[in-house]
Amino acid sequence: MTEDLFNSSPKLKIDELTRELKEHNYRYYVLAEPVISDYEFDIKLKELERLENEFPQWAHADSPVKVVGGAVTKNFNTIKHSRPMLSLGNTYSKDELRDFHDRAVKLAGVEPEYVCELKFDGFAIGITYRNGTLVQALTRGDGIEGDDVTENVKTIRSIPHQLSGSYPDEFEIRGEIFMHRKAFERMNAVRLEAGEQAFANPRNSAAGTIKMQESKEVAKRPLDCFFYHVLGDRKTFTHHYQSLITASEWGLPVNKAMKICRNFDEVWSFIELWSKERKNLSFDIDGVVVKVNSFQLQDELGFTAKFPRWAIAYKFETERVATVLQKVTYQVGRTGAITPVANLKPVSILGTTVKRASLHNQDIIEQLDVREGDTVFVEKGGEIIPKIVGVDLNLRPPGTKSLTFIESCPECGTPLIRIEGEAAHYCPNEEGCPPQIKGKLIHFVSRKALDINSMGEETIDLLWEKGLLRTVADFYELRYDKIIGITKTTINELTGDERTVSIREKSAENLIRGIEDSKKIPFERVLYGLGIRFVGETVAKKITKKFKSIEALLNAGYDELVAVDEIGERIAESILDWFRNPVHLEIIAKLKDHGIQLSVDESSLTEVINKLNGKIFVVSGVFTEFSRDQIKEAIEKFGGKNSGSISSKTDYVLAGENMGPAKLEKAKSLNIPVISERDFLDMISD
Ligand code: IVH
Repeated sequence: MTEDLFNSSPKLKIDELTRELKEHNYRYYVLAEPVISDYEFDIKLKELERLENEFPQWAHADSPVKVVGGAVTKNFNTIKHSRPMLSLGNTYSKDELRDFHDRAVKLAGVEPEYVCELKFDGFAIGITYRNGTLVQALTRGDGIEGDDVTENVKTIRSIPHQLSGSYPDEFEIRGEIFMHRKAFERMNAVRLEAGEQAFANPRNSAAGTIKMQESKEVAKRPLDCFFYHVLGDRKTFTHHYQSLITASEWGLPVNKAMKICRNFDEVWSFIELWSKERKNLSFDIDGVVVKVNSFQLQDELGFTAKFPRWAIAYKFETERVATVLQKVTYQVGRTGAITPVANLKPVSILGTTVKRASLHNQDIIEQLDVREGDTVFVEKGGEIIPKIVGVDLNLRPPGTKSLTFIESCPECGTPLIRIEGEAAHYCPNEEGCPPQIKGKLIHFVSRKALDINSMGEETIDLLWEKGLLRTVADFYELRYDKIIGITKTTINELTGDERTVSIREKSAENLIRGIEDSKKIPFERVLYGLGIRFVGETVAKKITKKFKSIEALLNAGYDELVAVDEIGERIAESILDWFRNPVHLEIIAKLKDHGIQLSVDESSLTEVINKLNGKIFVVSGVFTEFSRDQIKEAIEKFGGKNSGSISSKTDYVLAGENMGPAKLEKAKSLNIPVISERDFLDMISD
């Protein structure tokens, strides 16, 4: 009792924050009308997390804290679906769509009313709510039984754990989990930066993510969901459209683009509209789903053995061409990851000639059972990299053999390794494998690392061939007289053209100056530049914030590393591994001798910290003197904070050219000062 009284205020605070954060989640994901910035959301979430750690007895079962990482699901249980989870019949042709319509008219005796919806390109999920609480989430599986991925699904911010309003006691709703294109690209960029393999497309990464074993990892991936099918009693609803609108009132995300169509022409107009507009959506759709609206009519139409007769998917054409896979070769990346590449008989897709396509990894090769000599189907959809979607088995020449993944590195011959739980093979010969060494050198001088922009790939190649570059420390041994005049001639394999690259006076000067200037680059970027696997830009920042010098980092143990926000087991192991290598320690020692920043310059930090005094900036548009990244970096360096969206908490909007009118309008309506790049530079300079 006394304890209750004593702690009553944190309990109220937990209740209040839980309610508030759920509300913000709903506004952000369902209404798409957030009223606070991501930054403010995170602060509140952290506060709730802190309180819940201290007073776990008052944490809510459906707390938003659990949304960012929860229980670890080791193996998925297989559970029978309450009703089979069917797919849809589909068509690419207007005539077949009309056949579907004619059959429906014939069976129903009247022209039915349809609901047209977008066909989201993701991963199907069936979720059960009991007394408004999310109790189960199942994948489609084989349609009869699915995997229980409840813990993973609970990490998706747009899917409520608790419904509001007057919902049925128990019901199931089905929908599609997907990833927005921008989020997918961001995620892939971070993966590539950290030396991991990129995902092929948003659909694959959504599907791969939901099957991950660790919910905490799932929580880091930006997944979203739209629901499209309420199962259940016919008493609550009479029409499909009404069921989805009501589901959205309970807090479930339903896409707004759905439309009631009263005849075939209206259906066709909807399809034509979205086949053009799909490129303006933030996520991928691969067609339109047409459903009979009345449940009574749906029941009358019933099902075939495989599909409902009351719905059909009209799929958009993606440009798909057939060509011959001539040879599979293997590429070695900077971190040693091996990518199998399909070398194709050149073919034109969407106006570009495609000669190569990534085969990603051994699993994909096995799934496709693709072989050299096969005629393969190549598609180029939203993605930049064309993909192989299938094999024309009718055209398979006799005597082809299944591909066996190479066992040793194509560049240096070292036996490859495959880390448990990862799809990629790696060449472990970090110090002796040429593309890995060159890749690391290129990464070290890149813009976000040491930014030696005079040092391009060709120059690195040249210096490498002359034996002047082996490790990143060698950049600082280069002298003007050693590099001036060195030359290399290359011959283009296809055209036979000769090309000579040489370092002349001007470029030698620029190179030496660039190298000298890089000594001022702060520790966090040097750490990123070292190219430790999984240590991307953000992780490097977090590490340097906690461990202020390379020595401190070197002395850190596993427990200290995983205690840092965002550093999990995998990253910690990778860092420890890196520092165990004597070659790396030697590189560090040399960099130190040359005066590279290997610790945080505390004096400059404390001096500038008060300048922007925690002010929140939204940076938008294109700038003339600095890149957007540099400006954001400066804001943080001078003690300010960056936010992605304008809210009443924003202190300044820093506007470059081409800033969107909607943002400008919003800033005006909230009376937030809009400042220029010049104003900002004045703010931070003395
Ligand atoms: S309705 C029994 N509606 O596409 C009817 N499905 O190719 C169940 N999908 O299995 C499906 N968007 O995974 C429906 N608006 C939508 C959809 C949709 C995407 C997926 C779903 C389905 C597959 C059929």
